Amino acid sequence: MQLREIFETMEWGPAPESAGEALDWIAGHGGRFGHFVGGRFAEPGETFETKNPATGEVLAEVTQASAAEVHAAVAAARAAQPGWAALSGHGRARHLYALARGVQRQARLFAVLESLDTGKPIRESRDIDVPLVARHFSYHAGMAQLMASEMPGRVALGVCGQIVPWNFPLLMLAWKIAPALAAGNTVVLKPAEWTPLTALRFAELCRQVGLPEGVVNIVTGDGAVGEAIVTHAGVDKIAFTGSTEVGRLIRRATAGTGKALTLELGGKSPYIVFDDADLDSAVEGLVDAIWFNAGQVCCAGSRLLVQEGVAELFHAKLRARMDRLRVGDPLDKAVDVGAVVDPEHRARVARMVAAEQEGEVWHAACAIPEAGAYYPPTLITGLSPASPLVQEEIFGPVLVSGTFRTPEEAVQLANDTRYGLAASVWSENLNLALGVAPRLEAGVIWVNGTNMFDAAAGFGGLRESGFGREGGWEGMLAYTRPSGEAAPLAHVAPMTGEGSEQGLDRTAKLYIGGRQARPDGGYARDVFGADGRLLAQVPVANRKDVRNAVEAARKAGLWAQATAYNRAQVIYYMAENLSARAAEFADRLDAMTGSGEGAAEVEASVARLFHWAAWADKWEGRIKPVPLRGTALAMRAPVGVIGVLCPDESPLLGLVTCLGAAMAMGNRVVAVASEPYPLAATDFYQVLETSDVPAGVANVLTGAHAELAPVLAAHMDVEAVWSFSSSDVSGAIERESAGNLKRTWVNHGRARDWAGAEGESVAFLEAATEVKTVWVPWGE
Ligand code: NAI
Repeated sequence: MQLREIFETMEWGPAPESAGEALDWIAGHGGRFGHFVGGRFAEPGETFETKNPATGEVLAEVTQASAAEVHAAVAAARAAQPGWAALSGHGRARHLYALARGVQRQARLFAVLESLDTGKPIRESRDIDVPLVARHFSYHAGMAQLMASEMPGRVALGVCGQIVPWNFPLLMLAWKIAPALAAGNTVVLKPAEWTPLTALRFAELCRQVGLPEGVVNIVTGDGAVGEAIVTHAGVDKIAFTGSTEVGRLIRRATAGTGKALTLELGGKSPYIVFDDADLDSAVEGLVDAIWFNAGQVCCAGSRLLVQEGVAELFHAKLRARMDRLRVGDPLDKAVDVGAVVDPEHRARVARMVAAEQEGEVWHAACAIPEAGAYYPPTLITGLSPASPLVQEEIFGPVLVSGTFRTPEEAVQLANDTRYGLAASVWSENLNLALGVAPRLEAGVIWVNGTNMFDAAAGFGGLRESGFGREGGWEGMLAYTRPSGEAAPLAHVAPMTGEGSEQGLDRTAKLYIGGRQARPDGGYARDVFGADGRLLAQVPVANRKDVRNAVEAARKAGLWAQATAYNRAQVIYYMAENLSARAAEFADRLDAMTGSGEGAAEVEASVARLFHWAAWADKWEGRIKPVPLRGTALAMRAPVGVIGVLCPDESPLLGLVTCLGAAMAMGNRVVAVASEPYPLAATDFYQVLETSDVPAGVANVLTGAHAELAPVLAAHMDVEAVWSFSSSDVSGAIERESAGNLKRTWVNHGRARDWAGAEGESVAFLEAATEVKTVWVPWGE
């Protein structure tokens, strides 16, 4: 063929990368691998095969870990941890830097091995996965270096169990291991059963660069091995990336154990194209959004929403582009879309598509190899928003498309999902794009772009896409804890007495939606003072009252859009009104607790409200120095509706601390008053009533913590639950929260110094906000 003809037809010839070196490395291990524990490879045990999905060939055999082997790995990590943490930050930085350099030096081998094992095109593993791996280790070398000075008072968690999926085996390993090691943790990592090879190659790199033994341990196997890590008592934190279903199992399995947890789960990310977008760029963006790694990407732009006026034109351009996608041998440098990870996964994708009755399924006309786990690039139009293909993660090269008319409708459709991982917005009108971006319920939002990642920018989801961020300072924070052990918290029992109802000054009510409300069940209970006198009766709230309070809080969503200045003014006003009634509140506290410290607690409460009012307009986001012509804005968004089980040992100060911090950040609150000392909270609603607090922003319930905590935690319209109760409710909250994977912050029976630095810690602001990263490229 003449060169001219080639240009005319744009035919391409194969340009395969050699698999030789990668296969030699496997052969060098006899084709069989044991675990990497305590700095050396163990003998292979009971093994299973890992295959090349593009050809079906067996690449190697790896070991299915037994419980004893998992235990040995945890023990090795435990033994190594104190020494690793005690190494100076600079010492750890040098090791992480050596890993970054090692990955760079062996970049081609890692890339080829990754493409062989996963089926992803070499162009991706070579140009995206592996460079990002090196970047991650390099960035976190810097974190290790700076930790002592920039994160004072924070220490490593200990041993981290890390479980990663098969879509980005080496990149997810880097996202997990780099921050963990930087902070002084040691790890036991399990790669996915379909794709263990690059993790094993990485283990060898750890040895080559002289990482201390036991700092990184790799065990292989299936979900049962994952479960053994999750439930191992010697593990202090679990970091998981994978399906929402398994994320939920892990949430339940770790509930009540005190293990830290971050979950990076599925998504069904919207890709919004406005009629004034650069349509050709948006089509090209879609290639990266949904055909990158054959759509097996948690943040894939799998749900196209295109403005009605340009939908036909856009779909025509899209189909033409899809027809030209090159699907084939992953090792071919000219290939756009490789094989999916396994024939079993291919069948799953095919089954999901075949099960759909409505809509029009269109497969691209590009040639697909006959053998191997290939699935054609696919576009499905004409589905209703409730269709399973619009709602569920397909995790394959399948795009579903719908239309919208107005920006309002685009936001509404985009947010009509139980997930909240990522979103893309395409428009040449910056006002429109930047107006829409923060209204999208997602942890990462790309303006005129897609699938951009960098170690400096946090990545992670909202809602059922999980919690926690990876990357940036926010990612580092998740691998640390405050230094020092908190004291155990004693249960605070209600006072008892025999007083009569005569002379009762008033009967308290619930406070829901800006109104005093009688409890649904019609029950009240006596509250006795320290001297045995009957002080008052308080309502016993039930499930229905929780529902009403949550509904009222949901309706008060405008609070999130109030300016920070405005929110500060309201909180200052609360402080002012509390101060005006200081003596009355002090008497009430003294009567309830008998501590005689009521006046001090009221004064501290006024100061605490000032504290959060002060923070309202100062809890700033960051601008991330990402490698982009443009920037990534890490914005602080309110979490939403927060349920709070208030502390018992500081009934007023605890309440205003939680309420003030949450409100200052734009959240609405359903607070359950201290169970033994509820009157501080029921008196406080009179302060709320007179302080311009919009109805529904702050709701107060009284009742049994053990009963109400699980109800709040199970409620699907509550985004977070905090508990500082002296009742044993932490485990129940964590377990019940698995339903919608809400954020939880519970005390696990540990005390908090409400009057001191802990009470005004920025930990409250961290818990009251989500970091949303908005990527904004600029320039011509
Ligand atoms: P998965 O969630 O089962 O697997 C991810 C990892 O978790 C693997 O290492 C696996 O061995 C481990 N695992 C499985 N069960 C476990 C358990 N009970 N305890 C601890 N660890 C366990 O994902 P799977 O089955 O491979 O894929 C199913 C679907 O999940 C995909 O089709 C896709 O929709 C979604 N998925 C999402 C990912 C993401 O990045 N968000 C990654 C992989 C899958």
